Amino acid sequence: MADTSVMEKIVSLCKRRGFVFQSSEIYGGLGSVWDYGPLGVELKKNVKDRWWRAMVHARDDIEGLDAAILMHPRVWEASGHVAGFTDPLVDCKTCKSRFRADKLEDARCPQKPSKKPGDHTTCELTEPRMFNLMFKTFIGPVEEQAATVYLRPETAQGIYVNYQNVLNASRQRVPFGIAQIGKAFRNEITPGNFIFRTREFEQMEMQFFVKPGSDAEWFERWREWRMEWHRSIGLAPARLRWHVHGPGELAHYARAAYDIEYEFPFGWNEIEGIHNRGDFDLGRHQEYSGKKLEYFDQAANERYLPFIVETSAGADRVTLTLLVDAYREEIVEGETRVVLGFHPGIAPIKAAVLPLVKKDGMPELAERIYHDLKRHFPVFYDDSGAIGRRYRRMDEAGTPFCCTVDGQTAADGTVTVRLRDEMTQVRVDTSKLVEFVRERLV
Ligand code: GAP
Repeated sequence: MADTSVMEKIVSLCKRRGFVFQSSEIYGGLGSVWDYGPLGVELKKNVKDRWWRAMVHARDDIEGLDAAILMHPRVWEASGHVAGFTDPLVDCKTCKSRFRADKLEDARCPQKPSKKPGDHTTCELTEPRMFNLMFKTFIGPVEEQAATVYLRPETAQGIYVNYQNVLNASRQRVPFGIAQIGKAFRNEITPGNFIFRTREFEQMEMQFFVKPGSDAEWFERWREWRMEWHRSIGLAPARLRWHVHGPGELAHYARAAYDIEYEFPFGWNEIEGIHNRGDFDLGRHQEYSGKKLEYFDQAANERYLPFIVETSAGADRVTLTLLVDAYREEIVEGETRVVLGFHPGIAPIKAAVLPLVKKDGMPELAERIYHDLKRHFPVFYDDSGAIGRRYRRMDEAGTPFCCTVDGQTAADGTVTVRLRDEMTQVRVDTSKLVEFVRERLV
């Protein structure tokens, strides 16, 4: 059963500690659009950096790309989004709310008591009509049909239309991939669950171009590698699982599709999709643009349209997954301790430097250590309040190491490093602190 109270606590912690704020809050907020605060921006950046490292820097067969959000409108005709990127929408004439017709079971009518839309005698639902999820805008000064462009609903298309540019500019040969991180926009009818489903979000997508016939094998490899990546950022393996798309569920472009799902307090839900897209994308762009997009394999002296294996994850969704996975409450000495137990490599702040007291030269020593560490990682300095309180504040921010400068520091050059998860302490020489933290970030 959905545990909404955990989500409420996480949303409240995110606001209080500066992970995530509602967009334009002083104006009453904008529906399902969120801003990342000082800790949130670091957390999400760590997600994206680790993805980029695993997908681009650590491999020889993937190139990076940063395509524009606005694209030629024909792109979205070729991709099938103009005709088919729709959800069935119903309006309620009584309460003026809108719902996804295929998700009525999960929706709630705003009238009390809480029931699903259509279940109150006063509900008056319209027939479903198809609603396109792409945001439209106009390019140039004239707001006319011919000037309509879309905010991209996925980053993938920027990769397909640049596939030959990247191939020509790099030394890659099929099989190879192109990776991109960027914003995407969808006018979702029923967004929700905090940053899980939003109208503006970031995707981390990689398209791998392969020879037809080798696609099933690459698809399996990518499934394995992507699941391993989610484990590597610290997500509990028991809360990750596969969901295979049955024939009725497959997107128009997909020959096979698997989702990596996570067990959220609101149930199992997708965090990443791995798709075997066949030659749908390059085939359609070839047809709509009139440009040949075939690949010439010199060694085999043959031409073909590569098949594509796609891995598509949401940076915001993975960030939410990390928050949910890391959140825990423990009773310590009769008090509740709230901890975000992030993997140190993901934690927004890697270490805090805390002088035990504000005298006896401790602040001066602590500041020196703080500036030393700050050259290497995001570090926080805190000298206000009892040491126990300061530890708790860092636990809530997910900081894995608290370096406390005490009476012994001046004498032997060591500090106490208090470990967030175990709450145990070890003494570390200040000259070894950077190394101590660094080797735990991997
Ligand atoms: N190019 C394929 C594609 O876009 P998708 O399953 O629609 O596939 C991929 O989206 C991923 O993007 C999802 O697994 C999810 O992590 C993220 N995503 C999709 N819609 C989202 C939304 N409204 N809010 C946040 N993340 C979203």
